[in-house]
Amino acid sequence: MFFPEYRPRRLRRTEALRSLVRETELSVKHLVYPLFVVPGQGVKEEVSSMPGVFRFSVDKLKEEVKEVYELGIPAVILFGIPEKKDEVGSEAYAKRGIVQRAIEAIKKSTPELIVITDVCLCEYTSHGHCGLIRKGEIDNDATLEQLAKVAVSHAKAGADMVAPSDMMDGRVGRIREALDEAGFSHIPIMSYAVKYCSSFYGPFREAAESAPQFGDRRSYQMDPANAREAIREAALDVEEGADILMVKPALPYLDIIKTLREEFNHPIAAYQVSGEYAMIKAAGRLGWLDEERAMWESLLSIRRAGADVILTYFAKEVARKLT
Ligand code: PBG
Repeated sequence: MFFPEYRPRRLRRTEALRSLVRETELSVKHLVYPLFVVPGQGVKEEVSSMPGVFRFSVDKLKEEVKEVYELGIPAVILFGIPEKKDEVGSEAYAKRGIVQRAIEAIKKSTPELIVITDVCLCEYTSHGHCGLIRKGEIDNDATLEQLAKVAVSHAKAGADMVAPSDMMDGRVGRIREALDEAGFSHIPIMSYAVKYCSSFYGPFREAAESAPQFGDRRSYQMDPANAREAIREAALDVEEGADILMVKPALPYLDIIKTLREEFNHPIAAYQVSGEYAMIKAAGRLGWLDEERAMWESLLSIRRAGADVILTYFAKEVARKLT
């Protein structure tokens, strides 16, 4: 009987052989853990659609970040839920705002942990949109001024990196300019360069109380049907000074991660979003999927597609398994 000379199974026979030729690694060093900060004292409440993910008040955050740091996770990304919202999202850049206080607390307790901040208005505006509203429309250029203020206020509070997620045109350039003027030319921007208008943000909007009160985000977030546009978006952000390019969500957009990896030499990040996490958790709870294996496989695919950095709610679980 004829056999080809190459038999792929030869290298799959034992774990040692498989490990010897494994092409992709998932390490805790690549991971960023998202954290939700809420007003009040002594608060640690689970997000109902995201089992294992909690919202913390600033005082409770310290214990959490200590655990994150000790697990070897190098970075967190902060999302704040303010005490009060208004039309222009002014709490987003308030000196004693929720995120600003959280940054200070983290930097005091675990100074080496990288603190990234999400720069957006949707958690802070009464209408829940990521930009300012004028005549029922999102006013792009007026929003840029607000975002610049938010980014600078985060840097002043001690953030190590800012991550604009609003999808306004020109925001990376405007934020870069504002940071430089304020003496923060050393603070990198991780741009949510390619952010799709996705149903997979559902659980996050519960956690961050940021669902739009009217309409949707289709006039600023990307159409899931578009791949070539992703290159245009990323190219613009590179031109405007982005240091890291992010694709979001991750698993439904692996092709986009791969394209960006091939087209650009910047570090690529991918955000495994709330709905991706919720889906695996839910199926795991129902006994329909092996949750742990699904977690590994999805994260490994995101790495395989070309992501250097992964933002994921699974970060602590992964770290616990690896240590
Ligand atoms: C804010 C923002 C969102 C997410 C990150 N930053 C929500 C949105 O755009 O509606 C989603 C993250 C997740 O789903 O885990 N603009």
